[in-house]
Amino acid sequence: MAETKKQGEPHRLQYHFTPPSKWMNDPNGMVYHKGEYHLFYQHNPGGTTWGPMHWGHAISKDMVSWEHLPIALFPDENGTIFSGSAVIDENNTSGLGTKANPPMVAIYTYHNEKLEKAGRTDYQTQGLAFSLDNGRTWKKYDKNPVLKNPGIRDFRDPKVSWNEKAGQWVMTLAVLDHIEFYGSKNLTEWTKLSEFGKNSGAHGGVWECPDLFPLKVNGQEKWVLLVSINPGGPNKGSATQYFLGDFDGKTFKNDNPEQTTFWVDYGTDNYAGVTWDNIPKSDGRRLFLGWMSNWLYANEVPTGTWRSANTLPRELKLVQTPEGIRLVSEPVKELQKLRVNTTTLKAQPVSGPLDLSSQYKLNSPLQELDLNLDVSQAQEITVRFSNTKGEHLDVGYSVSRKEMFIDRTKAGKIDFKDTFPGRHTAPLTLENGKLNLHLFLDVASVEVFANGGRAVMTDIFFPNEDFTKVELISSGPVQLLESKAYKMKPSMKSASGLTMGA
Ligand code: FRU
Repeated sequence: MAETKKQGEPHRLQYHFTPPSKWMNDPNGMVYHKGEYHLFYQHNPGGTTWGPMHWGHAISKDMVSWEHLPIALFPDENGTIFSGSAVIDENNTSGLGTKANPPMVAIYTYHNEKLEKAGRTDYQTQGLAFSLDNGRTWKKYDKNPVLKNPGIRDFRDPKVSWNEKAGQWVMTLAVLDHIEFYGSKNLTEWTKLSEFGKNSGAHGGVWECPDLFPLKVNGQEKWVLLVSINPGGPNKGSATQYFLGDFDGKTFKNDNPEQTTFWVDYGTDNYAGVTWDNIPKSDGRRLFLGWMSNWLYANEVPTGTWRSANTLPRELKLVQTPEGIRLVSEPVKELQKLRVNTTTLKAQPVSGPLDLSSQYKLNSPLQELDLNLDVSQAQEITVRFSNTKGEHLDVGYSVSRKEMFIDRTKAGKIDFKDTFPGRHTAPLTLENGKLNLHLFLDVASVEVFANGGRAVMTDIFFPNEDFTKVELISSGPVQLLESKAYKMKPSMKSASGLTMGA
């Protein structure tokens, strides 16, 4: 796989979306239209650190291989272009297109630095732009902003969707320490509906990038509200919490006001994730994509000409667990296209290190492992990815602590920021000692979905040489049950070119 890497870019991910060059943060405006998934993203084309925000743009037929398109939205007199969402205005409620050619409408935050520097507090407003040619060219709405700021510094990240019950568009907006809901019949005039969250959930940092959507569980509809928070995540820095409840078209009612906080992902590197659903009607999945970094060190990661990747696309579901209803994430099935060969790992006991890479020739930094383990007699199981320099990344489960972990303290470059090295954990209770670890390794990232996505962790790391060795290391007797391993192929042909097709 090494031959696919660009010179001087040892940490460039190979099957995750990365910007062609320069800085990227949050995914924005995820929308499916006319056979294409559109990904927009927070982008500073002028540097490799966060700076004046634009909306970068890419399209894909399958969420796996992406084609870079020119920048979609540039800053204007109202400010730079922060995070937001996009919808297809099928019925042309906005009047910006026609019924025959409905507009693609982007609703985003304007961040007006001039006003900020002048000491004003109302410098974040919501703006609108539209496209009549499938996102290829964009026009700003001539009466921007569409939602003015009431004098609150943090007033951003509009997520808009059509609400059937309310018969109108609903905007979910992050306002410092709470969420505000706004309603509109035409996407251009907005009225405040309600507020939620001042006294709910985690408040270790500012609330950002909310997302509200329904999912079915036990034959009933339940509403999920995602809220990203920075800092205050379970393993420090930025992370995304979620609430479960009901939304009547106007107000969100939390099912569990006394709840301990629920987290979408316990790793350090899944932030500002967004969902979308307007995929072919026959399908009905709720898809999710996050930004694979953390504001604690995002501006310092050692990647040279580009910074940051997205998580793998995931499907979100609600499931009934012994502890109650929970949100689970699973990798989307389209990722199976990236498998280049399948290895069946035979059932065998693990006592001490079991070198899977030499037993099965699994020597690739691009891997998917789907491991079934019986750990009922064990204290701990570790999956160790390592290189010849003695660096390693550990992913595992501690039976006594009932927690999954990722340890990147010895995984290569760690001293670019003191908040980077660490051992991160996620609570997970097993039934009958059965553990499934579904892992995706891609040069400089690992995503772990345990027991059907009941606990999820995403971490990035920067080895000085690719990790190509995989071992299972047990403390106490572990049984490896029949499992699968896959080598993966890159979905990026060229890191710097405009096409990243598999
Ligand atoms: C989240 C965030 C958003 C904001 C954007 C700016 O990572 O801080 O709240 O709109 O990034 O780039």
